Amino acid sequence: MSSTLSLRFILCTLFLSSLFLRHSLADVGTAAHYGPPFLPSACYGRDASQFPSNNFFGAVGEGLWDNGAACGRQYQVRCISAAVRRTCIPGQMIQIKIVDRAQSSVSRPSLAGTTLVLSSRAFQVIANASAPFINVEYQQ
Ligand SMILES: *[C@@H]1O[C@H](CO)[C@@H](O)[C@H](O)[C@H]1NC(C)=O
Repeated sequence: MSSTLSLRFILCTLFLSSLFLRHSLADVGTAAHYGPPFLPSACYGRDASQFPSNNFFGAVGEGLWDNGAACGRQYQVRCISAAVRRTCIPGQMIQIKIVDRAQSSVSRPSLAGTTLVLSSRAFQVIANASAPFINVEYQQ
């Protein structure tokens, strides 16, 4: 009987710590979208070869810009909610490469001041493209 109890205790501990780890790794923020033209970008100037060919890239807001260190970072982004019901596409996650600083992007974001700005190609994988912004969970 005591071994059953300790097994339960171990399973319970594992379950709780996995929940904790999951939440400590991902952050919550907002994401807008932007379309072309994308060049020049604050990260790569006119060098289009730095942009992923699948067009899954984005720009960061001031909170993540990190003096330019954000350039080239990869983020996994998931839509968690939006002002309009059913804006998020269930079960979808996108990985983007940071190529620009939202504040100075040539093409203006659909909303200023968001945590992330996704290329419209990336945005429409996880949400309805007509939404100006969504709430996201993101993780480097
Ligand atoms: C996207 O949102 C718009 C505006 O809310 C709506 O008219 C349209 O039906 C939505 N598209 C999909 C595929 O849900």
